[in-house]
Amino acid sequence: MLNEVLEHLVTTADGIYVDGTLGGGGHAEKICERLSEKGMLIGIDADADAINEAGKRLHRFKNNVQLVNDNTAHIADILRTQHISTVHGLLLDLGVSSFQLDDASKGFSFRGNERLDMRMDRRQSLDAYAVVNSYEEEELADVIFHYGEERLSRRIARKIVYRREAAPIETTGQLASIVESVVGGKFAVKSLARVFQAIRIEVNDELHRLKSILSDSLGYMADGGRIVVISYHSLEDRIVKTFFNECAATTIPSGNKFQPDTPRIPELRIITKKPLEATEEEQKNNPRSRSAKLRAAERI
Ligand SMILES: C[S@@+](CC[C@H](N)C(=O)[O-])C[C@H]1O[C@@H](n2cnc3c(N)ncnc32)[C@H](O)[C@@H]1O
Repeated sequence: MLNEVLEHLVTTADGIYVDGTLGGGGHAEKICERLSEKGMLIGIDADADAINEAGKRLHRFKNNVQLVNDNTAHIADILRTQHISTVHGLLLDLGVSSFQLDDASKGFSFRGNERLDMRMDRRQSLDAYAVVNSYEEEELADVIFHYGEERLSRRIARKIVYRREAAPIETTGQLASIVESVVGGKFAVKSLARVFQAIRIEVNDELHRLKSILSDSLGYMADGGRIVVISYHSLEDRIVKTFFNECAATTIPSGNKFQPDTPRIPELRIITKKPLEATEEEQKNNPRSRSAKLRAAERI
């Protein structure tokens, strides 16, 4: 959704833009191509490998690029350190990259057999091993149910706890075989994807961090500045949609038909009334884009 991102995000070539999910730097490179000598891109990623990869790709723009290996949830501090008070756009292309999924050592994929890790940022202590081996059964079931939307969450959690009593669950392959032993047959792959997604979201605290990145963005976004978010599952998309709707509202409902609603000054104008989706062609070339939803809003 490269063209859609550029069209909605970049409104002034002299602006300061933040790519809060830098990844391999694909979007960042195209943003840089649209900037003037005065423009600037701040690329943030929690994963040090992504920063290295993107650094190579963006080398030719080095005078206009700052790369930061941190969680974008710390963006207010990051901007303060760089003495930047306003930016003209924030891009979030959420989740993990195919580069991270393909790197078996990161332990994100149920197709490999690596140590359970799933940390975007290797400096943090909570990893998938700790979630799988130390969470209480109920807590584990809640993670799988809420973040994976997996119907059989309770049975999967019970089986995990039963198996780990004999010996810790060390690898992605062991976890995958436990899930498969509960959800057999043709549904297993979908359940595997849901369980691994759930644990990844928990390890990286993705949904809470998304909420805090969005709410902080109002504090530093210039008038007319844009927030563009690409999400890949309904939980993320719901957070973005709710945030945009609340900030664009012109009234606060009283909740009582005899009392008038309270007027409020909106902070955002929603640009995409409905989320944009990848074209058929893009979906064919890049299967991950099939679930992508892009929403954009402008600071007012
Ligand atoms: C889908 S990829 C982005 C791909 C990128 N747009 C590109 O064109 O190559 C998501 C990236 O964002 C990073 N990420 C996700 N959430 C983050 C957060 N809260 N803070 C920092 N990095 C984050 C991941 O480590 C991953 O590298």
